[in-house]
Amino acid sequence: MEFKHIIYEKAEGIATITLNRPEALNAFNKELITEVLQAIEDIKTDEAIRVVVLTGAGEKAFSAGADIKAMKGMTALKARELSLMGEKLCLAFENLEKPVIAAINGYALGGGLEAAMSCDLRIASENARMGQTEINIGLIPGWGGTQRLTRLIGATKAKELIYTGKLIDAKTAEQLGIVNMAVPADKFKETVRQLALDLAQKAPVAIKVAKALINKGSEISLDAALALEREGFGVVASTEDLQEGVSAFTEKRKPTFKGK
Ligand code: CAA
Repeated sequence: MEFKHIIYEKAEGIATITLNRPEALNAFNKELITEVLQAIEDIKTDEAIRVVVLTGAGEKAFSAGADIKAMKGMTALKARELSLMGEKLCLAFENLEKPVIAAINGYALGGGLEAAMSCDLRIASENARMGQTEINIGLIPGWGGTQRLTRLIGATKAKELIYTGKLIDAKTAEQLGIVNMAVPADKFKETVRQLALDLAQKAPVAIKVAKALINKGSEISLDAALALEREGFGVVASTEDLQEGVSAFTEKRKPTFKGK
């Protein structure tokens, strides 16, 4: 596959999508979003891929958000279109039946943070800076930030971040629960790689069902969610991978999961 705005690599069961507009701090334009969606389509059908890493090119940014320059003279209809595109991008990560790690290597602002929040896990380099900065240009988050940030950290802190548009460092993001881990810059790439390799070894169906249950369960009653979990537990229990896991445990060896 030929891409201009992303670098798309596959190795060792891991697909890495690198947002590649470093001259614009990897800000998302239409073409960049389209290419990420194309890569996700490929990931969906490639059984060898067990885990996805999303990151940014260059030393400075994961992504500085939606392309502000393209907003000059933007009509309400165009803004709605931009919001829909971003929503589609974020839902593509959220609904992908494989785990997605956002490797936040620098600024993750506005739509950049929104894209990261739609991933399953977030590892931030200690030099990363995050924020819902839209308010500073007279805007609000339009790719799910008012909702996903609030679900992640609660309304009190979400309002503080969205109303002030301030940047927070990786340690603060870790304390707030926006990222799983803030890692020293010199350990960042290796930490992301080890986590991705670890997830690539896990049972794919178990991860896929757990992801769906966690994502959907928070939107429905506990009773309904527990019923879904029960059904999911039954489905996962019917896989060859469970039998492999049980055999490996009794034989004191490492399991090899096939996603079957
Ligand atoms: N869109 C387009 N270009 C951007 C950009 C963006 N979001 N962010 C940075 N750039 C460009 C800059 O214009 C600059 O390009 P030029 O050299 O051609 O002028 C280049 O990237 C480097 O940026 P800076 O010179 O500004 O770098 P800096 O180190 O001085 O500052 C920064 C870094 C604090 C991140 C600053 O660039 C910044 O504040 N960027 C905007 C961040 C932002 O507000 N994002 C939210 C966008 S709106 C949104 O995302 C809406 C939504 O919910 C979907």
